[in-house]
Amino acid sequence: MTYWTRELYNVIVRRFGKWSMKIGILISGRGSNMVALVDAVASGEIPNSEVAVVISDQADAGGLAKAAKRGVEALLIERAGRKRAYHDAEIVEALKGRGVDLVCLAGYMRILSPDFVRAFPNRIVNIHPSLLPSFPGLGVQQQAIDYGVKFSGCTVHFVDEELDHGPIILQRVVEVKDDDSAETLSARILEKEHAAYVDAVKRIVSGRLRVDGRKAVLLPEY
Ligand code: GRF
Repeated sequence: MTYWTRELYNVIVRRFGKWSMKIGILISGRGSNMVALVDAVASGEIPNSEVAVVISDQADAGGLAKAAKRGVEALLIERAGRKRAYHDAEIVEALKGRGVDLVCLAGYMRILSPDFVRAFPNRIVNIHPSLLPSFPGLGVQQQAIDYGVKFSGCTVHFVDEELDHGPIILQRVVEVKDDDSAETLSARILEKEHAAYVDAVKRIVSGRLRVDGRKAVLLPEY
């Protein structure tokens, strides 16, 4: 969608609450955040939307079977041995071909190329298991423990061309306990992630989320 088409879409959604937003979800592994989104769309908790496709870059991603079991098209576009530019172009084509308006990264482990990001401006979101800008990248729960922070959590943010960097949609806080291991902290953060991702997508689908520079602001309902 162009900027103005999207603005028009947002105005119509805010006014009438209709029209279906097509969501594409990218995974690389077990896909528990993907399942949370698919189930929330199916139950109507995320309204006016449809999960058009789940795409994995890994053949052994457990999430593929979970998506298929829920009646969602589960597509493997394998990364192995392929240059990012070609791999990304194929994924973008698959998403565009299915009319996807919103791309949700849910444990997708390949950094997107600039061309991919530009193909969906402010229409790609990611969930990250720390309170950004603290601890971007991988292994972040262990990093939070090693640093000695007392609180960590998760962040849902728009994706821009820098790693774990785009405007923040929302964050949820989790206390770090003295005896936490990376596993116990990850498990408590993951529980928060599922609800956080659903809330973030609800905000986008509502048409009330405006991005102004670094700030994603939720406008009041009419
Ligand atoms: C989550 O912790 C998410 O924040 C991170 O990767 C993990 C994916 O878990 N980006 P799952 O595949 O959604 O269960």
